[in-house]
Amino acid sequence: MSLKIAVLKETAKFEKRVAASPDTVKKYIGMGFTVSVEKGAGLGSSFTDAAYKEAGASIAASTASAVKDADIILCVQSPDAETLSATKKDAVLIGSLNPYGNKDDFKGYNAAKVTAITTEFVPRITRAQNMDVLSSQANLAGYRAVIDAAGEYGAAFPMMMTAAGTVPPTKVFVMGAGVAGLQAIATAKRLGAVVSATDVRPAAKEQVQSLGGTFVMVEDEETAAAETSGGYAKEMSDEYKKKQAALIAETIKKQDVVICTALIPGRPAPVLVSEDMVKTMKPGSIIIDLAAAQGGNCPLSEPDKVVEKHGVKIVGYTNMASRVAGNASALYAKNLLNLVTHLFDSEAKALNIDLEDEITGAIVLTEKGKTVHSNFTKETKKKTDKKEEAA
Ligand code: NAI
Repeated sequence: MSLKIAVLKETAKFEKRVAASPDTVKKYIGMGFTVSVEKGAGLGSSFTDAAYKEAGASIAASTASAVKDADIILCVQSPDAETLSATKKDAVLIGSLNPYGNKDDFKGYNAAKVTAITTEFVPRITRAQNMDVLSSQANLAGYRAVIDAAGEYGAAFPMMMTAAGTVPPTKVFVMGAGVAGLQAIATAKRLGAVVSATDVRPAAKEQVQSLGGTFVMVEDEETAAAETSGGYAKEMSDEYKKKQAALIAETIKKQDVVICTALIPGRPAPVLVSEDMVKTMKPGSIIIDLAAAQGGNCPLSEPDKVVEKHGVKIVGYTNMASRVAGNASALYAKNLLNLVTHLFDSEAKALNIDLEDEITGAIVLTEKGKTVHSNFTKETKKKTDKKEEAA
């Protein structure tokens, strides 16, 4: 009997993406899976039920019928309790489950005895690059952040010299030059803006400059160790934060558009643009805070809202990739296909969840009713230790 894959229709607000595309469905069928796509699952990304059917999937009228007997459940965001309770024991759930943000969901995964796999923990090693959802989605989010800024801003981005006078170029400042930030720099440059950027990782300097941006950064002995072995930023000391704030305050008042993308995995986003700094910005300026879901790089941003504070428009969309849903879904679906291929033993026609494997071991959160991911078992242990100490 072939393994069954279920593709869920997302229910979260502002989520237009879907975890499989007609292209990836075709590939799964070719690998020997059967695929059940929940009715209307792809519509937010312009993938019709007919396109999935043509690719070889069956269309399920409800979530319950999609997940019934499914061995693998593909989703974008963590499904609700009702969906989990309809899954069969030992089913493998794969999605961007946001384990730090949704710690309570572990209870549901364990009660349903599903193997929960999250894409955020795919290690940044060459072998896993084609499964790296954070990169595929952040790249599009960085692009869309600039497009949204251009839409909200009441002036043109490129310099224009006309008979009626010169239109000055827009000044864009990008905070955080990771995947989203670098794409934001490239997009703003393409639109003709004058672009500068900052980061705490010195490695970002060359990348920013190679895209034509000016790099602005407090460089000291701390920045030499600001990057983890995984390529991410660490939280900086209070002393560094003070020096950085002074430099940003000087830079920000000259900008028209600020794109915030600075994140530290598993921690609240660093506060980089204070209310006092916002007050120094020119009226009509724009801040796009891609870190809004993690608390924001600007404390004035409000999740999923466009607000105006001190004459500055602050955009806090938390799901920027979903605003480019067609591309985002196609790339996400491809990342998941590569992940499933990694887990699939094509000879045995079965999944091989080998926790000793460098990639698999990093992404499995729960198995057989138990939390197995070390980031969360340690926490449980700490809590238990504290309770024991208190007792
Ligand atoms: P991220 O989304 O966690 O953070 C975004 C950016 O914010 C990072 O560049 C980070 O250094 C910066 N940041 C954090 N705190 C800051 C602060 N206080 N002030 C200013 N900037 C701050 O990171 P992302 O975009 O996921 O990428 C991190 C690194 O991983 C990059 O170097 C990227 O090139 C690398 N990478 C490597 C891959 C691989 O397969 N080898 C794949 C994708 C990314």
